[in-house]
Amino acid sequence: MTERIRVGVVGSKFAADFHCDAYSRIDAAEVVAVAAIDNLEGISSKYGIPKTYEDYNEMFEEENLDLVSVCAPNFLHHPVVLAASEAGIHAVCEKPLAISADQGREMVEVCGKNGTKLFYAEDWMHAPALVRTEALINEGAVGDILYIKAKEVHNGTHSPFAQNKETCGGGVFLHMGCHAVTWVLRILGKRENPVVEVTGKMTGGGDENFVHTKNTGEDFGMAMLRFRDGQFAFAESNYITLGGMDDKVEIYGTKGVIKVDLTFSSAVNCYSTDEISYSIEKADINRGWTKPAVDEFYSLGYVTEIEYFVNCVIRDEVPKYGVDGRAGLTTVEIIEACYESSELGKTVYGSWS
Ligand SMILES: NC(=O)c1ccc[n+]([C@@H]2O[C@H](COP(=O)([O-])OP(=O)(O)OC[C@H]3O[C@@H](n4cnc5c(N)ncnc54)[C@H](O)[C@@H]3O)[C@@H](O)[C@H]2O)c1
Repeated sequence: MTERIRVGVVGSKFAADFHCDAYSRIDAAEVVAVAAIDNLEGISSKYGIPKTYEDYNEMFEEENLDLVSVCAPNFLHHPVVLAASEAGIHAVCEKPLAISADQGREMVEVCGKNGTKLFYAEDWMHAPALVRTEALINEGAVGDILYIKAKEVHNGTHSPFAQNKETCGGGVFLHMGCHAVTWVLRILGKRENPVVEVTGKMTGGGDENFVHTKNTGEDFGMAMLRFRDGQFAFAESNYITLGGMDDKVEIYGTKGVIKVDLTFSSAVNCYSTDEISYSIEKADINRGWTKPAVDEFYSLGYVTEIEYFVNCVIRDEVPKYGVDGRAGLTTVEIIEACYESSELGKTVYGSWS
């Protein structure tokens, strides 16, 4: 393989933008083509991408790709990853891995059978603040962990595909709660310490939602997970939070506490009587005091995750737990159990790792 790997991107909007931005910062990779059903001119001119396709299969046939970034809606992760794998192309799949555990399982199996790598783009795993947090935990800063609390919340998804349960696979708890679930799996579970019980609570979608009654999936979800070794994790996600995307993690251990603020921790404090153009993702008002992100794509982990995946391809390395297909699949399995728990109104028991 040449040093500069050939990358294709499926999708052209929100996630495709931060994937293309990340590739543009890396010498070892070049985005040679993009496939999507809209905004092809917008994304290709912004990043200087030479070829565009309306059909991702055609891109796979013609472009001799080493790697594809799957930035299409959740319901397309399964067919796109399978098509890429059959064409011998490694895939970076956006979160959540799939709209069902059955689909996720097939993706892991097919990529394994074909010998193509399946990278799960859980950016929290590479967010610099959380990488530092993991290192602190590993050096014993908090002693034995007893409890982790993690959330991603904001005021509602921009994507029409994510507002619809059929194309999203669920509501906010699958779409965004997956960040928290995968992160606690990495920190508390790895493969040795499975989640053994889950208790979930969700709004019901549609008229049973708090705010987003046009969304067919839930707009509020939370779950308590218990690990076999006794630790608890509380995962939360919702679309009812005004004021900008709020990603927070708290770790409580026998010897200490760590609190992480991924989105409101900018070193820049700005006061402006006029609206500024941008502060942080999903901020509804950008006037008065704001905390504009310094480099949001970097602090959320998008840049370093792509660099990591490109290096895995070049060095032929297996991705670490948390950004591999297995962790993506376990996350979907756990979230399905959380939905089941919410519907049944009781705790669901199992073994997920
Ligand atoms: N890691 C993160 O923090 C993060 C953030 C946002 C989105 N995402 C994920 O990225 C994925 C895309 O989300 P988004 O917010 O960019 O959605 P979006 O609605 O902004 O864009 C959807 C894209 O999919 C493309 N598309 C739709 N049907 C297609 C088809 N048949 N073939 C090719 N392309 C097709 C559209 O052209 C569009 O570019 C989702 O899986 C989402 O969960 C992850």
